[in-house]
Amino acid sequence: MDVKLLQRVKVIDTDNLAQTLLEILQTENYQRPLFVMDSFLAKVPIVQASQKLLQDNQIDFAVFDKVVSDPPAQTIRDGVTAFEDAQADSIIAIGGGSSIDVARGINIVRTNGGDILDYTDPDKPIKRCEGLIAVPTTSGTGSELSNALVVTDVKSEKKLAILSDNAVSEYAILNPDLVLSLPQRMTIATGLDAFSHAAEGYTSRLASPVTDAICEKVMFLLYNYLPRAVKNGQDREARQRVMVAAALAGWMLNNAGTNAGHSIAHVLGSKYHIVHGEAVAYALPGVLRRVAPLMPQKVCEIGQILGEVYTAEESQEERVDRAIRAYQDFRDNVLGLHPFSDYGISAAEITSNAKAVSEEQFASNMPGEMNETVAKELLSEFGVRLN
Ligand SMILES: NC(=O)c1ccc[n+]([C@@H]2O[C@H](COP(=O)([O-])OP(=O)(O)OC[C@H]3O[C@@H](n4cnc5c(N)ncnc54)[C@H](O)[C@@H]3O)[C@@H](O)[C@H]2O)c1
Ligand SMILES: [Fe+2]
Repeated sequence: MDVKLLQRVKVIDTDNLAQTLLEILQTENYQRPLFVMDSFLAKVPIVQASQKLLQDNQIDFAVFDKVVSDPPAQTIRDGVTAFEDAQADSIIAIGGGSSIDVARGINIVRTNGGDILDYTDPDKPIKRCEGLIAVPTTSGTGSELSNALVVTDVKSEKKLAILSDNAVSEYAILNPDLVLSLPQRMTIATGLDAFSHAAEGYTSRLASPVTDAICEKVMFLLYNYLPRAVKNGQDREARQRVMVAAALAGWMLNNAGTNAGHSIAHVLGSKYHIVHGEAVAYALPGVLRRVAPLMPQKVCEIGQILGEVYTAEESQEERVDRAIRAYQDFRDNVLGLHPFSDYGISAAEITSNAKAVSEEQFASNMPGEMNETVAKELLSEFGVRLN
């Protein structure tokens, strides 16, 4: 059966994180959750208030707060040890994609055994993993609704993705108050990550009319509300809209996937420590340019979502140019993403990664040919304004 849209996660949006967590634990009869976070989130007042309410209700929890950004496999292994030592029965992941991905990794290993890197083999079966409650604090990866986790293999310096519908969260809790403190640079990067999920999913080989509709709405929400969240982090309405957009994009990812923009980010991100959301944003114009001859209407529609109004006289090529320019203007002028040259990495260094990009697991989701030559062309456009 060719199922186009699967969604198993119970999504709750709430203004009261503590009460919602308590209700979920009581409903599911989870008595010993393990909080999985980084050291920053562990000190956030809303998180501490949630822990206090659990304590007051005799729920004994444990804490693993050693998550780092772009987590290596070892962090997941340490988390599995913490889970076992605490004799936990569920996981509350609070944080960005790194914390939620680590939590998903812990949940896979505690349910299925073995080592997390075993599951990078797509043929290795993963049984249904219950008990993951995901609470995002960035609005980007959509990990709370996605079936993916990204882990860095330190030996090969590669970011590897593990995909399993059986490992999705049991609950995702959306509370915009958690995101109000997200710094401006992270707001830009994570918002652009969500935008790239939608734009790459829209232009993926796996796209369907159902996922297209989700992608269109995600891009629309980000175009209209992300600039407000960037300008004023305390704009709760904008934060909420952006949070929902990111979560919906994560759901869509399970069904349509990303394509070569994420392959580039996975290869360059772990090697040169380029922030994930920035890497996908520098890669997107090249991907749109490459797929445009095969799906001009979709690329033009991205331009329309970004505010372009085409005239009857314009050729398709002119419309495509305008759509790509509109994305670059949104990214650089409206949101204010800093230029890639700030990283100080030479063009030759970037294009030397063509083979790895062409072999990355999402690269073949990009319509058209994918090989080292194509990847080199995409890399030569990475971080460069196309017109
Ligand atoms: N699972 C998926 O589907 C998926 C998709 C895309 C990316 N990823 C992965 O997710 C990771 C990136 O996640 P991310 O972009 O959410 O960032 P992150 O989780 O790495 O967090 C980045 C930083 O932001 C801080 N932070 C988080 N929330 C904050 C808040 N509300 N206020 C202030 N600071 C806050 C964290 O403490 C951390 O220092 C990468 O490893 C990436 O490869 C996963
Ligand atoms: Fe991403």
